[in-house]
Amino acid sequence: MNPALETLALALREHPVAWPALFLGAEPHPDLFGATAWQPLKPLADLCAAAGMALSDEPQGKFRSVFFLPGKTKEETLAGFVLAHDLLALGGTLVISLANTSGAARFEKEISRAAPLLFSVSKNKCRAFAVSNTEPWDTAALAAWRDLAQPRLIPDTAFTVVPGVFSAGHIDPGSALLAQHLPPSLRGEVADIGAGWGFLSNAALAQCPNISRIDLFEADSRALACARKNLIGPAEFYWHDVTTGLPAKYDHILTNPPFHTGQARDIGLGHAFLTTAAKSLKRGGTLHLVANRQLPYEAHLVSLGLRPRVLEETGVFKVISAS
Ligand SMILES: C[S@@+](CC[C@H](N)C(=O)[O-])C[C@H]1O[C@@H](n2cnc3c(N)ncnc32)[C@H](O)[C@@H]1O
Repeated sequence: MNPALETLALALREHPVAWPALFLGAEPHPDLFGATAWQPLKPLADLCAAAGMALSDEPQGKFRSVFFLPGKTKEETLAGFVLAHDLLALGGTLVISLANTSGAARFEKEISRAAPLLFSVSKNKCRAFAVSNTEPWDTAALAAWRDLAQPRLIPDTAFTVVPGVFSAGHIDPGSALLAQHLPPSLRGEVADIGAGWGFLSNAALAQCPNISRIDLFEADSRALACARKNLIGPAEFYWHDVTTGLPAKYDHILTNPPFHTGQARDIGLGHAFLTTAAKSLKRGGTLHLVANRQLPYEAHLVSLGLRPRVLEETGVFKVISAS
């Protein structure tokens, strides 16, 4: 179990709070099943649903307590503070928990400059800390965090992103390299798996006039919402865990596969993407992917019955097509 989640549950046992509660970044824990859950990542949202938690895409109203397990980036954590604030009833309690290595002490200090600290519990190399809103939070801090939470454009492009999504500050150089190698002859039905905010799909639609439809599959609902804004053309959008397979077969599949789960490196996730792709290609279809050059994807593709060809290898990336 996620140690930050265990620490959150421990802190709530030591310092009971009022309910009803909202759980931002929710993961299943028996002590927290009664909370309304918000979770943008589909595999974790599926776990919450399987545990019987009530999920909300867009939480509304006011809760007497808000629990928050932040994601990976500073911006998304601070954006989460302001979201939590807006959903917290007057006199309510916000409890945040994260790993020490993710800056728990720094974020505790940051939020306690804006709101009165109620308690702090350290355990499992994590820290859970709570603030109340019995009195108004510091308006300058709230305004600065609110600003960070706003959608913004990737510099020098028309692409919209929000904090926390993959490659929120720039176009991923690996994906940019793959886009240079997409054959203009791609045609028919195409899937973009792990589509993020839509860069690869946008490049494919712009460069390959014979694509009849592109289906974007992405686990992060925030990224998918950006992709909907970023794409013009025949595209469908699916909030979907690619490791569970795809609902259809495709003439071509594009991917820059993830190889991290949370903070940890996870080659198995990349392999699962390639397995799904191999199962979802029509006869004669092709897979187009980019990966860090040290990742051993060619052998896995061969084991799936595909024939990989390295189209370009740089100091960092390799672009592979497989038929
Ligand atoms: C390396 S990024 C590539 C994003 C996008 N294609 C681009 O070029 O900017 C991998 C993407 O896979 C998504 N992802 C991770 N695990 C996933 C899963 N199980 N199912 C679907 N998408 C997933 C991540 O949220 C991320 O957006």
